[in-house]
Amino acid sequence: MKNRYLGNSGLAVSRVCLGTMTFGNESWGCGEKESAEILGSYLDSGGNFIDTADLYAATESEKILGKILKGKDRSSLVIASKCWFPVNETPNARGLSRKHIVEACEASLTRMKLDYMDLFQIHGPDPYTPIEETMSALDDLIRSGKIRYSGCSNLYAWQVVKANAAAKQNGYEPFISGQYLYNLIRRDIEREILPACVDQGMGILCWSPLASGLLTGKYRGVDIPEPGSRFKEVGEILNDRFIWKEALELVDLVCSIADEVGKSPVTVALSWILKDHAVTSVLAGARSVEQLLPSLEAGEWDLSDEHRDQLTAKLPCDHGYPCDWMKIALVPNFSKTEPEPNRAQRFPPLA
Ligand SMILES: NC(=O)c1ccc[n+]([C@@H]2O[C@H](COP(=O)([O-])OP(=O)(O)OC[C@H]3O[C@@H](n4cnc5c(N)ncnc54)[C@H](OP(=O)(O)O)[C@@H]3O)[C@@H](O)[C@H]2O)c1
Repeated sequence: MKNRYLGNSGLAVSRVCLGTMTFGNESWGCGEKESAEILGSYLDSGGNFIDTADLYAATESEKILGKILKGKDRSSLVIASKCWFPVNETPNARGLSRKHIVEACEASLTRMKLDYMDLFQIHGPDPYTPIEETMSALDDLIRSGKIRYSGCSNLYAWQVVKANAAAKQNGYEPFISGQYLYNLIRRDIEREILPACVDQGMGILCWSPLASGLLTGKYRGVDIPEPGSRFKEVGEILNDRFIWKEALELVDLVCSIADEVGKSPVTVALSWILKDHAVTSVLAGARSVEQLLPSLEAGEWDLSDEHRDQLTAKLPCDHGYPCDWMKIALVPNFSKTEPEPNRAQRFPPLA
């Protein structure tokens, strides 16, 4: 399994991270036994990076991890969790206040039976808490040794930059990572978020890299998803998020490239994401070892540039304004001098 540094930090993580949202989920996930097998198979492949959240299976995912991590070499692992979603009905059991961040971290550590977490991520933005309070609380957790680094998830680009600016101004540690929805079908982050994270020296961690299973190719021509699968159980959210005519045509291309190179569509779809080194890791989700194996292959195998370009062109991302303005106004006027590489800002592709 190949490793990458998480953003500008010195933390080396596997480029395939084990997502554990399936652990303990009774509807479309797996129980403790399968979770232990999945973790074992991931560690056997050389993976070191595990992602969870208090939200997952109403804290069951963290509790299962607490049981199945027992006896594993803790220091070789990079363990990440998240807070933000309500954990009960009381008003402070949610969001990004100092009170909730500290309590959520301590509760996650207790459930996972850990002394510290490597990466603690805010799962979304809190419009009612000053960002200075949030960054200060995360910094306190770092100083007290309860977490090593902090990251964010699902923030707007301006919120990421504002949070890190507040951290810098006050001497707090900035975010080292952003966790976002990114796959061949949903490339929204290319517009603003991905360039912002690159600018901030943050690594990108991609959730739902297989579009919740669609990019495996298993739904081609199938009207009714299999019982127990995510598309069967929560299809009303996923259909809107991932399924339309051109997206299904893209899945066909993923499958035909997979046939050509003798790999699973899963490996091809994940490798497309990992071709961009702004991305540190894809978060692989599975409810069996069998499902996980082709994802693990993406930890070693690289797609050719030609196939990457073919897939990129198949379902172009509409970058919209101001990107279309840049093509007309910026490119002709600022492309005459070669930029010093470290000074060049990253924009969505302007060609
Ligand atoms: N920060 C956030 O807001 C956020 C949100 C979502 C997820 N996440 C993180 O990202 C991780 C991955 O997300 P995800 O689970 O949505 O990723 P995903 O890779 O897009 O979807 C995983 C699902 O695809 C199906 N699948 C995977 N491999 C397969 C194979 N070889 N054959 C057939 N089906 C296969 C399985 O679902 P079925 O068997 O049910 O079809 C599996 O549960 C999560 O575990 C979590 O850690 C974070």
